[in-house]
Amino acid sequence: MTDAVAFPQDRTCPYRPAPGYRPLAEQRPLSRITLYDGREAWAVTGYALTRLLLADPRISSDHTNPAWPVANAAAAAAREFGADQKKVISLLTALVGVDDPEHRVRRELAEACFTPGLVDALRPKIREVADRHLDAMVSRGAPADLVQAFASPVALVALYETLGIPREDQEYFKQKTQQLFGPQARAIHEELVTYLAELIGKRPQQPGESLLGALVTLVAERGTPADAVPAEILQMLLIMLVSGHHTTSSSIAIGASALLHHPERLAGLRADPSLVPAAVDELTRLVSVTDGVQRVAAEDIEVAGTTIAKGDGVFFVLSLINRDPEHYARPEDLDWDRPAPDDHVGYGFGPHRCVGVDLARAIMEIAFRTLLERLPGLRLAVAADEIPVQPGESFQGLVELPVAW
Ligand code: HEM
Repeated sequence: MTDAVAFPQDRTCPYRPAPGYRPLAEQRPLSRITLYDGREAWAVTGYALTRLLLADPRISSDHTNPAWPVANAAAAAAREFGADQKKVISLLTALVGVDDPEHRVRRELAEACFTPGLVDALRPKIREVADRHLDAMVSRGAPADLVQAFASPVALVALYETLGIPREDQEYFKQKTQQLFGPQARAIHEELVTYLAELIGKRPQQPGESLLGALVTLVAERGTPADAVPAEILQMLLIMLVSGHHTTSSSIAIGASALLHHPERLAGLRADPSLVPAAVDELTRLVSVTDGVQRVAAEDIEVAGTTIAKGDGVFFVLSLINRDPEHYARPEDLDWDRPAPDDHVGYGFGPHRCVGVDLARAIMEIAFRTLLERLPGLRLAVAADEIPVQPGESFQGLVELPVAW
């Protein structure tokens, strides 16, 4: 093995792995990386090995493990927050950041609150949200920043509709949730619990209408004492919000940049919109926004001719895993005619695989359909390599995406 590669590194093209990851790709399926603080960790880059390890109970998601690997100084600083902020963070990471048996109990609740038909029932509302934001963007005139004008607010408001936050309360909810990680964390959390208790009391919530509606029934069935119900429901809603907003927003924005950079593919999609669902999955594979899923080894693991030792940090580099040439023919191509465009690991794999995957797909599909149908002249207003990416992150986002139409 050669010297450990620095991780994370910035992308130069929004939808391609950082050029500095080339040695990691060459050393597939496993190599060493150096983190911002000089600590070393493992980078998993092979598709088959990823499916093996992410399903292995010795690969832990316990965020509280002192050996937990962090990608940058901001993430490390969050681990040093005050007691109130830490409490809020532990509430919000109580699904993605815990192992079984704790994980299983909360995961069952998370899965059950996506009642059958819920996502389909939400589609008209999501389309209305997308149309409303596109109207506003168009009325302001080109050029526009597709991140701020469309991708981010559409993903956020679609999530509010999914959660069951009434439209007139969404601005309030937005402000309060933004303050949840600040110095007033405890007071804001209490205020949101009170808000939710009032909302639940105002009118009966229907399970097929929103996550809130489903949770009111499910949490009561679990025997949660009545006075603890609003806090438990709030926790699940916030988990969905925190997990679902930037992931979906970035997937729309970076996905749009990839699509606009492939005019011939874009024309094919316009000609046959029935291809949009497959295109959404292929874009999710290609852009891999969650480009460093973290874990820590809870025990020694013999794998790929080496030992991942107990306490070692592990990053699953999804952009490289989703381009493993042993699994994908022509992995760099944007090609939704692949035999199985949905078999990528852009939503993770194993017990923590994205629980909001159907919703994510629906929001992205509606966002792309809206753009395709309503803006036939949509194009990048700068070259693909001039689009500024968020620096210093393993999670991929764009600073802005200038477009014209
Ligand atoms: C395109 C958009 C999205 C992408 C790329 C994405 C990606 C992911 C990935 C990679 C994981 C696994 C994390 C891990 O293993 O540590 C994950 C987990 C999760 N996602 Fe998503 N996600 C998206 C949208 C959403 C949405 C819309 C929601 C909810 C409404 C959501 C809720 C969650 C939750 C709650 C988890 C944790 C599941 C668990 O730990 O059991 N995600 N997501």
